Amino acid sequence: MENKKGIPSRLNPSPILALSTGYWNSQALLTANRMGLFALLANESRTLGQIAKGLGSRKKGTRMLLNACIALELVQINNGLYSNTDMSKAFLVPGQQGYLGDAIRYSDDLYQTWGSLEQTLISGIPSMATEKYTGEDLQQTRNFVYGMHNRAMGIGRVMVDLVDLSGRKKMIDVGGGPGTYSSLFAQVYPDIHSRVLDLPAVLEISEEIIESMGVAERVTTEPLDYMQDEFPEGNDVVLISGVFHRETEKTCRGFIRRASQALETGGLLIISDVFSDEGGTSPLFATLFSLNMMLTADDGEVHSDTDVENWMEQENFKDVLKVSFPQPMPHRIVMGIKQ
Ligand SMILES: C[S@@+](CC[C@H](N)C(=O)[O-])C[C@H]1O[C@@H](n2cnc3c(N)ncnc32)[C@H](O)[C@@H]1O
Repeated sequence: MENKKGIPSRLNPSPILALSTGYWNSQALLTANRMGLFALLANESRTLGQIAKGLGSRKKGTRMLLNACIALELVQINNGLYSNTDMSKAFLVPGQQGYLGDAIRYSDDLYQTWGSLEQTLISGIPSMATEKYTGEDLQQTRNFVYGMHNRAMGIGRVMVDLVDLSGRKKMIDVGGGPGTYSSLFAQVYPDIHSRVLDLPAVLEISEEIIESMGVAERVTTEPLDYMQDEFPEGNDVVLISGVFHRETEKTCRGFIRRASQALETGGLLIISDVFSDEGGTSPLFATLFSLNMMLTADDGEVHSDTDVENWMEQENFKDVLKVSFPQPMPHRIVMGIKQ
């Protein structure tokens, strides 16, 4: 059935319109986080005037930003006093265990990058070079490493429940970044010693994080370029988390082969990442994350967990298992035993 303008009347354009302005929501959050709104409201409710003074912003625009934050359920108002909602208190105030502000700063760094999606599609060149956030730009490197840490604190707590490391002692964490996963495993398993292997500028920041998690005696760092250096041998666990989405199938297959060489017989290889379903068209987050990785790494691309399972079996791993994190976490694990 069509209306007078010839548009089918049962079709609703709202989803398309909402998609076209989705970045308005993001930018309200990114800006409020960057300007320190949630930290300002951490301990007390404040008036509009106090907030504008604290942020160094004009009152009129600040009121509009606060109105949007109220509508987005990030801020609430009572008798003219603004305060954080429970959600903001838990995740947006620095120092809280669930703090995500650094991860949001890293998303903020990516805002311009996503603006050049078209150029990257045409040129094939990532609009943000890996070097920029792994050493070249010190602030972006901190945002990247602490952003990974924020996220890993949530995901890692689930990972230690999903993966049993009882009886295992020697682990390497390839492309281990902040070392959060190694540290969480070390907190749960007192016999685990893990070596976090990553680029030197990243490891300088990881050391602060590992120290803050109280496991620096058993979680150490070692510079390693995973594209060319050998993986240290004689381990009973190899963890490769969040690395496959940066690399081609050929490189990932090479990681599995080198992980096998780095493991003793009976050793466990854990590959954790955002993986897609077979065919790559779902889930939604994985499809978008694949574009994000194309924009930020030379060979960035999300792989399917079924492909990774096949690659591990072809390298002679046994008992290969695919495990999904509980919804809404987009992560999945593929793990298997070296025989
Ligand atoms: C998305 S992060 C994952 C970090 C951590 N494993 C996690 O899951 O939170 C990818 C990591 O690979 C590291 N990386 C990138 N290129 C590398 C290379 N050539 N050699 C070693 N590490 C590299 C980055 O510095 C970063 O820490």
